Amino acid sequence: MQDDLQERLDSLKWWQKTIVYEVYPKSFLDTAGNGTGTIAGIVQKLDYLASLGVGAIWITPIYRSPMKDNGYDVADYYALDPSFGTMDDMDELIAEAKKRNIRIVMDLVMNHTSDENAWFVESSSSKDNPKSDWYIWRDAKDDGSAPNNWRGIFGGPAWTWDETRQQYYLHTFADFQPDLNWECAEMRQELYRMARFWLDKGVGGFRIDAVTYIKKPEVFCDGTPDPMDGLFPIHDATANTEGILDLLQEFKAEVMDGTDAFAVAEANGVVPEELVNWVGNHGVFDMLFEFGHILVPQGGNENWYESDDWKLTQLKAALSASQRATRTNGWYPIYFENHDQARSVSMFLPDVSNKIAGAKMLATVLMTLRGTPFVYQGQELGYENVAWPAIDMYNDVSSHNQYKMALQAGKTEEEALAAVHAHSRDNARTPMQWDASENAGFTSATPWLPVHDDYATCNVMVEHGDKGSVLWWYRTLAKLRIELPILVVGDYTELMCEREDLYAFSRGCGAAQAVVIANFREAEVSYEAQLVQDMDLAISTHGDATPGVLRPLEAVVYLSRE
Ligand code: GLC
Repeated sequence: MQDDLQERLDSLKWWQKTIVYEVYPKSFLDTAGNGTGTIAGIVQKLDYLASLGVGAIWITPIYRSPMKDNGYDVADYYALDPSFGTMDDMDELIAEAKKRNIRIVMDLVMNHTSDENAWFVESSSSKDNPKSDWYIWRDAKDDGSAPNNWRGIFGGPAWTWDETRQQYYLHTFADFQPDLNWECAEMRQELYRMARFWLDKGVGGFRIDAVTYIKKPEVFCDGTPDPMDGLFPIHDATANTEGILDLLQEFKAEVMDGTDAFAVAEANGVVPEELVNWVGNHGVFDMLFEFGHILVPQGGNENWYESDDWKLTQLKAALSASQRATRTNGWYPIYFENHDQARSVSMFLPDVSNKIAGAKMLATVLMTLRGTPFVYQGQELGYENVAWPAIDMYNDVSSHNQYKMALQAGKTEEEALAAVHAHSRDNARTPMQWDASENAGFTSATPWLPVHDDYATCNVMVEHGDKGSVLWWYRTLAKLRIELPILVVGDYTELMCEREDLYAFSRGCGAAQAVVIANFREAEVSYEAQLVQDMDLAISTHGDATPGVLRPLEAVVYLSRE
C-alpha cells in the first residue's frame, strides 16, 4: 500500500474505519414471544451483524418508557424497559458484542423525557419543588391561552396545560414529551451523570437525539401564524439557537473527553457550512446527522402532504456539500435510512420497477462516499415501503398527526393517506424478516406492527443463499472497504455534477484513485469512457462492465493501476 494511504488510515479512530448498523429493537427479534423484540434477540443475531462487517450497533432507546414514541419518551434513564429485557441481558449484549469486535451505541434522549419520568412528576407537582425548573414552565396568557403560538414537531400546540402546577409546559415533540430545561445547571449535571453511567457499562458511543432543540431563545415570541392552524413551527423558532454550542461543549468535557467512545448527533437545522463548529477539532461531536439530502425527496418540506418533485442534482448537491464541509475537519456519517425515514429504494427511486437492482446501486453509493456508513435494519435486504389501506393501521404518532394536518390543509383522505404511504416512519419499523416462516421468524406471537407482505422472498435466509441478493451485495461492499482503503480515506470530488441520470465521484489520495459511477435510471446511459481510462474495474453491480456505458441501475467502482 502507498505510504500516504497507510498514514491516513493509521491516523483514523476505530469508528471511522467501520460500519455502524442501526437496530430498532422493538422490531428486530422477539425471543420472549410477546410480539416485540428483545435485547436477547440482538445477542442471538450478533454473528449475522458481524458478517456484515459491522463494528458498532446503535440501538434506539431501550430505557423504561411508556413507549408512546417507542422509547423516545424516557421514564427512567437508568432502567431498561421490561419489554426488552433486564440489565443482565444488556451486560451480556455488551460482552458478547465485544467478543466479535463490535461496540454498542446507546441513544441519548436529552431534549425531553416522558411525562411519566419521576423528574417531571416532581417538577409538575408545585412551583417550588426542588426540580421545579428542570422543565420549561410558563404562565398562561391573561385569557388562559398558551404562552405563544408554537406548533410541536408532531403537530398541534407545543404547550400543554398542567392542572396541578397551573402552568403550561413546553414540548418540542408530542405532549407526553416535556422538554428539559438546559438552562438549569443541576439538571444538566444529572444528564451527564447518566451518560457516564452508560460509558462505565462499556458502551462504545452515543447517538444524541434531537440535539438542535435543547437551547431555547431568551424570549418566547409568537411567530407568523400558519393559516392552516394559526400556529408557527417550533423548529423555526428554536432549532440551533445561539449559545447552544456552549452547552454542548460542557457535555463534551463532562462526558466524552478522555474516552474512545464516539458521539454522533441528530441535528436537524444544522447546515453544512456550520459543521466546522459542530464536529472535528473545534466542534463538540465526532459526527453529525444532517437532514439536507434526506429532505430532498420531500421537496425540502417538513410537512409530508406538501411533498414536491425533486431532481437528482439536488440530492447530489446536498451530499457534496456535506462531503466538502468535512473534507479537512470532522467526519461524516453517511446514511440513507433510519427509523424516522421511509425506505430508501422507495424514497429515492419511487418509479423504478427493479427494486433489487436499485437497492444495490444505492448501497454502492452509501458504502463508497467518504465517512462512516450507517446501515439501518432491513436496508441490507432491500426493504421497500408498506402501503396500508387505513390510517388506523399505522402506529407512528407523527403519521397520525401528519394525516390530520393534511386534512386540515384541505387534502382529501386519499391524498392524506398517500402522503403517509410515502413518508410514514412505520415504513422503517415493520419487523425484521429473518425467514419465510410465519411472521417472518420475528416472533411466535402477533407482531406489534404487521410484517411486510414480501417477507417470503425478501428475508435473511433467502438472501443469504442468493449471490444476486442485496444482502450479498452489502457483504461484498463491506469487504471491499477493507481491501481498498482508498474508499475509507480518499478525498471526495464530485464528477459530472450536472447529470440528472447518474451520480459520479472520485476518491483520491496521491496517485491512487477510485471512481464510482451510479446510474439512477432504469435505462442504459453513457458517459465519457476516458474518465476511467487506464483504470481497472473493482466491482460492478452487474458483474462485468463496459467503460462508457452503464446498464439500468448499474453502479461501478474503477480503480487506478498501481
Ligand atoms: C428524533 C428521533 C425520533 C423521535 C424524536 C423525538 O427525531 O429519531 O424517532 O420521535 O426524536 O425524540
